Amino acid sequence: MKIKLADNYGFCFGVKRAIKLAEQSPNAVTYGPLIHNNKEIARLKADFNVGLSENLQNFSAGEQVVIRTHGIQKDELAYLQSKKVKLIDATCPYVTKPQEIVAQMSADGYDIVIFGDKEHPEIKGVRSYAQGNVYVVMDENELAVLPLKERIAVVAQTTRKIENYQKIVAYLMRSYKEVRVFNTICNATFENQDAVRALAKEVDVMVVIGGKNSSNTKQLLHIALEFCPHSYLIEDAEELNVSWFKDKLCCGITAGASTPEWIIKEVSQSIEAL
Ligand code: F3S
Repeated sequence: MKIKLADNYGFCFGVKRAIKLAEQSPNAVTYGPLIHNNKEIARLKADFNVGLSENLQNFSAGEQVVIRTHGIQKDELAYLQSKKVKLIDATCPYVTKPQEIVAQMSADGYDIVIFGDKEHPEIKGVRSYAQGNVYVVMDENELAVLPLKERIAVVAQTTRKIENYQKIVAYLMRSYKEVRVFNTICNATFENQDAVRALAKEVDVMVVIGGKNSSNTKQLLHIALEFCPHSYLIEDAEELNVSWFKDKLCCGITAGASTPEWIIKEVSQSIEAL
Protein backbone atom coordinates (compact mmCIF):
# COMPACT_ATOMS: atom_id res chain seq x y z
CA MET A 1 0.00 0.00 0.00
CA LYS A 2 1.42 3.33 -1.05
CA ILE A 3 1.01 6.01 1.62
CA LYS A 4 0.87 9.76 1.10
CA LEU A 5 0.83 12.23 3.95
CA ALA A 6 -0.99 15.53 3.57
CA ASP A 7 1.30 18.54 3.09
CA ASN A 8 -0.04 19.96 6.36
CA TYR A 9 -1.47 17.86 9.16
CA GLY A 10 -1.44 17.33 12.90
CA PHE A 11 -0.48 19.59 15.76
CA CYS A 12 -1.07 23.26 15.25
CA PHE A 13 0.81 26.10 16.88
CA GLY A 14 -1.74 26.48 19.72
CA VAL A 15 -1.66 22.81 20.67
CA LYS A 16 2.15 22.60 20.54
CA ARG A 17 2.29 25.63 22.82
CA ALA A 18 -0.27 24.16 25.27
CA ILE A 19 1.56 20.84 25.50
CA LYS A 20 4.88 22.57 26.09
CA LEU A 21 3.33 24.65 28.89
CA ALA A 22 1.87 21.50 30.47
CA GLU A 23 5.18 19.63 30.19
CA GLN A 24 6.90 22.55 31.91
CA SER A 25 4.41 22.32 34.79
CA PRO A 26 4.71 18.83 36.30
CA ASN A 27 1.99 17.95 38.86
CA ALA A 28 -0.29 20.69 37.48
CA VAL A 29 -3.97 19.98 36.85
CA THR A 30 -5.79 21.06 33.70
CA TYR A 31 -9.31 22.44 34.00
CA GLY A 32 -11.11 20.34 31.40
CA PRO A 33 -9.18 18.39 28.75
CA LEU A 34 -6.13 20.39 27.60
CA ILE A 35 -6.66 19.34 23.97
CA HIS A 36 -9.11 17.06 22.17
CA ASN A 37 -6.99 13.95 22.27
CA ASN A 38 -7.40 11.42 25.06
CA LYS A 39 -4.19 9.54 24.31
CA GLU A 40 -2.04 12.64 24.53
CA ILE A 41 -3.75 13.58 27.80
CA ALA A 42 -2.90 10.10 29.13
CA ARG A 43 0.73 10.58 28.05
CA LEU A 44 0.95 13.90 29.90
CA LYS A 45 -0.39 12.15 33.00
CA ALA A 46 2.06 9.25 32.71
CA ASP A 47 5.17 11.30 31.89
CA PHE A 48 4.56 14.58 33.76
CA ASN A 49 1.81 13.75 36.27
CA VAL A 50 -0.38 16.43 34.73
CA GLY A 51 -3.88 15.70 36.03
CA LEU A 52 -7.34 16.65 34.83
CA SER A 53 -10.35 17.98 36.67
CA GLU A 54 -13.70 19.02 35.26
CA ASN A 55 -14.83 20.52 38.55
CA LEU A 56 -13.84 24.06 39.49
CA GLN A 57 -14.56 23.43 43.19
CA ASN A 58 -11.71 20.88 43.29
CA PHE A 59 -8.98 23.48 42.93
CA SER A 60 -7.32 24.98 45.96
CA ALA A 61 -5.05 27.96 46.64
CA GLY A 62 -1.51 27.62 45.35
CA GLU A 63 -2.36 24.72 43.01
CA GLN A 64 -1.09 24.98 39.42
CA VAL A 65 -4.08 25.05 37.07
CA VAL A 66 -3.65 24.88 33.31
CA ILE A 67 -6.32 26.53 31.16
CA ARG A 68 -7.01 24.49 28.03
CA THR A 69 -6.39 25.62 24.43
CA HIS A 70 -10.09 26.34 23.84
CA GLY A 71 -10.22 28.74 26.77
CA ILE A 72 -12.77 28.94 29.57
CA GLN A 73 -15.68 31.20 30.46
CA LYS A 74 -15.11 34.60 31.97
CA ASP A 75 -16.82 33.77 35.28
CA GLU A 76 -14.82 30.54 35.58
CA LEU A 77 -11.61 32.51 35.13
CA ALA A 78 -12.73 35.01 37.78
CA TYR A 79 -13.54 32.12 40.13
CA LEU A 80 -10.10 30.55 39.68
CA GLN A 81 -8.44 33.91 40.26
CA SER A 82 -10.48 34.41 43.44
CA LYS A 83 -9.30 31.01 44.71
CA LYS A 84 -5.71 32.18 44.25
CA VAL A 85 -4.60 29.21 42.20
CA LYS A 86 -1.44 29.56 40.10
CA LEU A 87 -2.82 29.96 36.58
CA ILE A 88 -0.98 28.65 33.54
CA ASP A 89 -2.88 30.04 30.58
CA ALA A 90 -2.63 27.67 27.62
CA THR A 91 -5.55 29.32 25.81
CA CYS A 92 -4.54 29.54 22.17
CA PRO A 93 -3.90 33.18 21.20
CA TYR A 94 -6.26 32.63 18.25
CA VAL A 95 -9.03 31.93 20.79
CA THR A 96 -8.09 34.81 23.08
CA LYS A 97 -8.51 37.13 20.08
CA PRO A 98 -12.28 36.60 19.52
CA GLN A 99 -12.79 36.76 23.32
CA GLU A 100 -11.21 40.23 23.27
CA ILE A 101 -13.14 41.32 20.16
CA VAL A 102 -16.47 40.25 21.68
CA ALA A 103 -15.68 42.05 24.95
CA GLN A 104 -14.69 45.24 23.13
CA MET A 105 -17.45 45.32 20.51
CA SER A 106 -20.24 44.53 22.96
CA ALA A 107 -18.88 47.23 25.29
CA ASP A 108 -19.14 49.58 22.28
CA GLY A 109 -22.83 48.71 21.89
CA TYR A 110 -22.72 46.21 19.03
CA ASP A 111 -24.91 43.12 18.93
CA ILE A 112 -22.64 40.09 18.64
CA VAL A 113 -23.13 37.24 16.19
CA ILE A 114 -20.89 34.20 16.62
CA PHE A 115 -20.71 31.61 13.87
CA GLY A 116 -20.06 28.30 15.58
CA ASP A 117 -21.30 25.45 17.72
CA LYS A 118 -22.89 26.80 20.89
CA GLU A 119 -22.06 23.61 22.79
CA HIS A 120 -18.35 23.85 22.00
CA PRO A 121 -16.16 25.00 24.93
CA GLU A 122 -14.43 27.60 22.73
CA ILE A 123 -17.76 29.22 21.84
CA LYS A 124 -19.07 29.04 25.40
CA GLY A 125 -15.92 30.90 26.40
CA VAL A 126 -16.05 33.51 23.62
CA ARG A 127 -19.75 34.12 24.20
CA SER A 128 -19.20 34.71 27.91
CA TYR A 129 -17.21 37.87 27.13
CA ALA A 130 -20.27 39.65 25.65
CA GLN A 131 -21.92 42.26 27.81
CA GLY A 132 -25.07 42.76 25.73
CA ASN A 133 -26.96 40.78 23.08
CA VAL A 134 -25.07 37.78 21.74
CA TYR A 135 -26.30 35.11 19.33
CA VAL A 136 -24.60 31.90 18.23
CA VAL A 137 -25.63 30.52 14.84
CA MET A 138 -24.59 27.61 12.69
CA ASP A 139 -25.94 28.92 9.38
CA GLU A 140 -27.47 31.99 7.74
CA ASN A 141 -31.03 30.64 8.00
CA GLU A 142 -30.91 31.09 11.77
CA LEU A 143 -30.21 34.80 11.36
CA ALA A 144 -33.62 35.65 9.90
CA VAL A 145 -35.47 35.24 13.19
CA LEU A 146 -32.99 37.09 15.41
CA PRO A 147 -33.99 40.48 16.87
CA LEU A 148 -30.72 42.08 15.77
CA LYS A 149 -30.19 45.83 16.01
CA GLU A 150 -28.47 47.89 13.29
CA ARG A 151 -24.90 47.61 14.57
CA ILE A 152 -23.52 44.11 14.45
CA ALA A 153 -20.11 42.57 15.04
CA VAL A 154 -19.50 39.04 13.83
CA VAL A 155 -16.79 36.50 14.70
CA ALA A 156 -16.34 32.82 13.85
CA GLN A 157 -15.24 29.72 15.73
CA THR A 158 -11.56 29.20 14.86
CA THR A 159 -12.17 25.85 13.16
CA ARG A 160 -15.11 26.77 10.90
CA LYS A 161 -15.10 26.64 7.09
CA ILE A 162 -14.52 30.02 5.51
CA GLU A 163 -17.14 29.37 2.78
CA ASN A 164 -19.88 28.99 5.40
CA TYR A 165 -18.70 32.08 7.26
CA GLN A 166 -18.89 34.05 4.02
CA LYS A 167 -22.57 33.07 3.64
CA ILE A 168 -23.34 34.38 7.11
CA VAL A 169 -21.45 37.61 6.49
CA ALA A 170 -23.18 38.07 3.11
CA TYR A 171 -26.60 37.69 4.73
CA LEU A 172 -25.76 40.25 7.42
CA MET A 173 -24.36 42.72 4.86
CA ARG A 174 -27.56 42.51 2.82
CA SER A 175 -29.79 43.04 5.83
CA TYR A 176 -28.05 45.52 8.14
CA LYS A 177 -26.42 48.93 7.81
CA GLU A 178 -23.32 48.41 9.93
CA VAL A 179 -21.60 45.05 10.11
CA ARG A 180 -18.11 44.68 11.55
CA VAL A 181 -16.57 41.42 10.35
CA PHE A 182 -13.60 39.79 12.07
CA ASN A 183 -11.87 36.88 10.47
CA THR A 184 -11.16 34.73 13.51
CA ILE A 185 -10.77 31.45 11.63
CA CYS A 186 -7.23 30.30 12.27
CA ASN A 187 -4.59 29.62 9.60
CA ALA A 188 -3.75 26.16 10.92
CA THR A 189 -7.31 25.13 10.10
CA PHE A 190 -7.04 26.53 6.57
CA GLU A 191 -3.73 24.85 5.92
CA ASN A 192 -4.82 21.42 7.11
CA GLN A 193 -8.11 21.75 5.20
CA ASP A 194 -6.44 22.81 1.92
CA ALA A 195 -3.99 19.95 2.22
CA VAL A 196 -6.68 17.31 2.80
CA ARG A 197 -8.69 18.67 -0.14
CA ALA A 198 -5.71 18.28 -2.47
CA LEU A 199 -4.74 14.85 -1.17
CA ALA A 200 -8.24 13.33 -1.10
CA LYS A 201 -8.51 13.95 -4.86
CA GLU A 202 -5.55 11.76 -5.67
CA VAL A 203 -5.86 8.73 -3.36
CA ASP A 204 -8.15 5.67 -3.25
CA VAL A 205 -8.70 5.72 0.48
CA MET A 206 -8.21 8.42 3.11
CA VAL A 207 -7.55 7.95 6.80
CA VAL A 208 -8.17 10.92 9.07
CA ILE A 209 -6.62 10.54 12.52
CA GLY A 210 -7.93 12.49 15.48
CA GLY A 211 -10.24 12.66 18.46
CA LYS A 212 -13.85 11.83 17.61
CA ASN A 213 -14.91 14.82 19.74
CA SER A 214 -12.54 17.18 17.90
CA SER A 215 -14.33 19.71 15.74
CA ASN A 216 -11.41 20.33 13.38
CA THR A 217 -10.83 16.59 12.89
CA LYS A 218 -14.48 16.12 11.95
CA GLN A 219 -14.17 18.99 9.44
CA LEU A 220 -11.16 17.24 7.87
CA LEU A 221 -13.22 14.07 7.49
CA HIS A 222 -16.08 16.04 5.97
CA ILE A 223 -13.79 17.59 3.33
CA ALA A 224 -12.07 14.26 2.65
CA LEU A 225 -15.45 12.61 2.03
CA GLU A 226 -16.32 15.24 -0.59
CA PHE A 227 -13.44 14.06 -2.78
CA CYS A 228 -12.82 10.52 -1.62
CA PRO A 229 -15.89 8.50 -0.56
CA HIS A 230 -13.62 5.93 1.11
CA SER A 231 -12.58 8.21 3.96
CA TYR A 232 -12.51 7.10 7.58
CA LEU A 233 -11.95 8.75 10.95
CA ILE A 234 -9.94 6.84 13.55
CA GLU A 235 -8.39 7.74 16.89
CA ASP A 236 -5.52 5.24 16.66
CA ALA A 237 -4.11 2.27 14.76
CA GLU A 238 -6.34 -0.21 16.61
CA GLU A 239 -9.40 1.17 14.83
CA LEU A 240 -8.04 0.41 11.35
CA ASN A 241 -10.20 -2.03 9.42
CA VAL A 242 -8.42 -4.16 6.85
CA SER A 243 -11.48 -4.22 4.56
CA TRP A 244 -11.09 -0.47 3.88
CA PHE A 245 -7.88 -1.14 1.96
CA LYS A 246 -9.03 -4.08 -0.16
CA ASP A 247 -8.23 -3.43 -3.85
CA LYS A 248 -6.89 0.04 -3.03
CA LEU A 249 -3.44 1.17 -4.15
CA CYS A 250 -2.83 4.48 -2.48
CA CYS A 251 -3.82 5.65 0.99
CA GLY A 252 -3.79 9.29 2.09
CA ILE A 253 -3.26 10.22 5.72
CA THR A 254 -4.07 13.42 7.54
CA ALA A 255 -4.56 14.26 11.19
CA GLY A 256 -6.42 16.81 13.26
CA ALA A 257 -4.75 19.71 15.01
CA SER A 258 -4.70 17.81 18.33
CA THR A 259 -3.20 14.57 17.04
CA PRO A 260 0.34 13.80 18.23
CA GLU A 261 3.03 12.67 15.81
CA TRP A 262 3.56 9.34 17.60
CA ILE A 263 -0.03 8.25 16.88
CA ILE A 264 0.30 9.28 13.21
CA LYS A 265 3.48 7.22 12.93
CA GLU A 266 1.81 4.15 14.47
CA VAL A 267 -1.12 4.38 12.04
CA SER A 268 1.16 4.87 9.05
CA GLN A 269 3.28 1.85 10.01
CA SER A 270 0.18 -0.31 10.54
CA ILE A 271 -1.21 0.57 7.10
CA GLU A 272 2.16 -0.11 5.51
CA ALA A 273 2.17 -3.54 7.12
CA LEU A 274 -1.23 -4.49 5.69
FE1 F3S B 1 -5.22 27.58 18.02
FE2 F3S B 1 -5.87 27.19 15.57
FE3 F3S B 1 -4.76 25.34 16.92
S1 F3S B 1 -7.08 28.19 17.11
S2 F3S B 1 -5.43 25.62 19.00
S3 F3S B 1 -3.78 27.26 16.35
S4 F3S B 1 -6.36 25.04 15.41
